[in-house]
Amino acid sequence: MDRIRIVGGKQLIGSIPISGAKNAALPLMIASLLTEDTLVLENVPRLADVGLLQRILLNHGVDVMLSGKRPGDAPYDGQTVKISASNIVDTTAPYELVSKMRASFWVLAPLVARMGQAKVSLPGGCAIGTRPVDLLIMALRQLGAKIDIDGGYVLAYAPNGLRGGEINFPKVTVGGTHTALMAASLASGTTVIENAAREPEIVDLADCLNKMGAKITGAGASRIVIEGVSKLNGARHAVLPDRIETGTYAMAVAMTGGDVLLEGGRAELLQSALDTIEQAGAKISVTNKGIRVSRNGAGIAPVDVTTEPFPGFPTDLQAQLIALMTCAKGTSRITETIFENRFMHVQELARLGAQIALDGQTATIAGVEKLKGAPVMATDLRASVSLVIAALAAEGETMVNRVYHLDRGFERLEDKLVACGATVERISG
Ligand code: EPZ
Repeated sequence: MDRIRIVGGKQLIGSIPISGAKNAALPLMIASLLTEDTLVLENVPRLADVGLLQRILLNHGVDVMLSGKRPGDAPYDGQTVKISASNIVDTTAPYELVSKMRASFWVLAPLVARMGQAKVSLPGGCAIGTRPVDLLIMALRQLGAKIDIDGGYVLAYAPNGLRGGEINFPKVTVGGTHTALMAASLASGTTVIENAAREPEIVDLADCLNKMGAKITGAGASRIVIEGVSKLNGARHAVLPDRIETGTYAMAVAMTGGDVLLEGGRAELLQSALDTIEQAGAKISVTNKGIRVSRNGAGIAPVDVTTEPFPGFPTDLQAQLIALMTCAKGTSRITETIFENRFMHVQELARLGAQIALDGQTATIAGVEKLKGAPVMATDLRASVSLVIAALAAEGETMVNRVYHLDRGFERLEDKLVACGATVERISG
């Protein structure tokens, strides 16, 4: 298993290209199941989760073609993926594959919408909370799918196709909204989604579905209306930049001090996080090339933040913000409202000398003068990267174990940090 060795104490100075968003690329790739034609996705990040989803799609009989680099492409340009689901040979997504990545459960919606049936394994446990799928199932039932659960699998049937309906989510859910969008696009009649998730990745999926011939209005608002169509076509679509990667590197710069241009980052995708980072003492300016983040001289100011669905502060940046606050001049309070068990990084940050008290869903962080390097490991992607942020500012050496978590969602993390002057190296083995 690879490890990452970091020697802290250097400022970050330079430029970091922002990759395509993992959490947009995954549902976009899954949307390819809705059409017999080829879906061409550009700016797809090179990540382990993208590779895993390719394997899941291949299992359904989908052709996935990755274009190689073309002359003139920059080393960080995202890849172009051509996906053709002209012939779906198997509508089952097995446990061995779905259990490795929860988002693969989302194949349920396009498979039942297009093929009239699907059998998809329940995803099982997760390091950040129970993460049920009841609302995804509710959405499909509202569109007329008959659903049984048997032997750990969800069996969905709609032999005569899905029909439009009212879907009123009692809780904002990104996966539920993706499911409803994909299913309703091929249902007969009109679907109205109330209390829809408003995340930029929802808008990206809706934009792509509209290019494929869907009739979706209101994506990005709480009420989305979909006029079903009988067939979708191929399309070409570029994945939007990763707002969580952008926010993560912005916090890394706020942590170490320095001056970095986050190339291609788009401020409107993470305004609440940028506001928080500014409040913490970093300077943020938006240029035509991206977002520039700097912090010089002044220390890190404490903040009080609660995670919320978009446009609020994202849960996927909570761990990174806690890491930043470990060195604040004062006490911060960070409350997690989306997932009930998303504080696994706290014990590991404590190994670096952080002072964090947990009370239910709130972490109270008393800033310390200096963190000190130590061996650490994490149980999920965002927790792992929070340890990297802390390590960049810690005195001495930190060894981050279980790097495969980072590889799921951060493209060439060590290269991007080294290019800005950090001492980071991957140790294979
Ligand atoms: C997506 O997960 C993201 N994953 C997560 O990113 C992100 O943390 C999350 O949205 C919230 O923004 C992808 O996009 C691949 P939800 P998702 O449905 O869709 C509850 C990362 O690190 N809920 O919006 O699974 C659920 O338990 C990952 O990249 C139900 O109760 O999240 C949670 O409390 C981690 N029943 C809340 O809703 C359901 O049927 C929001 O979850 C579905 C969800």
